Amino acid sequence: MDKLTVRDIDVAQKQVLVRVDFNVPHDEAGNITNDKRIREALPTINYLLDQQAKVILVSHMGRPKGKIVEELRLDQVAQRLEELLGKPVVKVNDTIGAEVESAVAALESGQVLMLENVRFYKEETDNDPQFAKKLADLADVFVNDAFGTAHRAHASTEGVAHYLPSAAGFLIEKEIEALSKAIHQPEHPVVAVIGGAKVSTKIKLLWNLLDIADVICIGGAMANNFILATGRQVGCSLVEKEYVDEALAIQKEAKKKGVKFMVPTGFLIGNSLEMDCNWGELGIDDIDETDRMELRKEPIYIQDIGWRAMESYKEEISQAKTVIWNGPMGRFENWKFERGTKRMAEAMGENTEALTIVGGGETAAAVEKFGLQDKMSHVSTGGGACLEFLEGKELPGIVVLNNKQ
Ligand code: 3PG
Repeated sequence: MDKLTVRDIDVAQKQVLVRVDFNVPHDEAGNITNDKRIREALPTINYLLDQQAKVILVSHMGRPKGKIVEELRLDQVAQRLEELLGKPVVKVNDTIGAEVESAVAALESGQVLMLENVRFYKEETDNDPQFAKKLADLADVFVNDAFGTAHRAHASTEGVAHYLPSAAGFLIEKEIEALSKAIHQPEHPVVAVIGGAKVSTKIKLLWNLLDIADVICIGGAMANNFILATGRQVGCSLVEKEYVDEALAIQKEAKKKGVKFMVPTGFLIGNSLEMDCNWGELGIDDIDETDRMELRKEPIYIQDIGWRAMESYKEEISQAKTVIWNGPMGRFENWKFERGTKRMAEAMGENTEALTIVGGGETAAAVEKFGLQDKMSHVSTGGGACLEFLEGKELPGIVVLNNKQ
């Protein structure tokens, strides 16, 4: 990475403002249901503490839109961090202002302070320079370790870096190294497994992958667009009709470039989107047939890729040297439709020779559900950030950091 990292700067006895992404899933009572993002920030925080820095953490949680939302306070996050660090974490109830300034003044080397949810200020998402300066005034050095929010040009991710020496934390370094290797210097064959509900969110990714991948395996409801593009039917399944032409253009381009573009020809279907729906497998011809002959007694909702696609995608994954996976193959939250997604995760886990990259919040959640996260080379903490990086975009929260030279 061409950016300074925490290793490159002197932080001893300094006040170090660290942007972390503690936007963690939680239940209605505010209990954290997955603390991966907090655990992934520990190497940077522990390093800074070992170096006798005074660590000031800033994060957002949810989208409170510039208002104080009690359920989005970071007290539970600070508590979990305290447990994971095995050290006290002082939590303040504001992000800037007098209370924060006196807490910072009282902070000693090797101690941690957690600020309140930075999105309680509208100035954060506006990337307001005065607000960014106020954050900067709390510290001598800025470290960005919030990979999950690096695609946002906000005051605490981008603005603040204009006022302080700025470096990347270990999580950002790890993410950039793994994701860059996969898209900039991959070992071939490269297999991309792309799924998820909406093709609209994956269009840019697919265009970018046409220059990287040897094989693209399509799943999830977004596959429906590619089915429709070839004049076939998808029953009542989710589809974004306005993207059918682009789906066709992508398929044509793949052919031109010699990229093997794989779309399922069979599906696991249900008669509704309810958990207790009746379900079974139908081939694409069966769906066509039921549509054409108006024999369809029950609605058809495609909810997972069929057995044949599972087998052929697994085969491609087993031959790959690099696998990039973004988006589940089906509605894995229902056990009836989890198989496609699970088989992809298993196949990736079994290919120990390959660099296996899992990106996107839902895909990472699926891999964790199946307990296969440790079998992957890298499970990104980013949803949107990971997607944008894989699309080939530069992330503003990283671009702004000081270069090594
Ligand atoms: C995420 O969960 O993707 C990040 O924390 C960014 O959150 P946002 O989409 O609300 O900016």
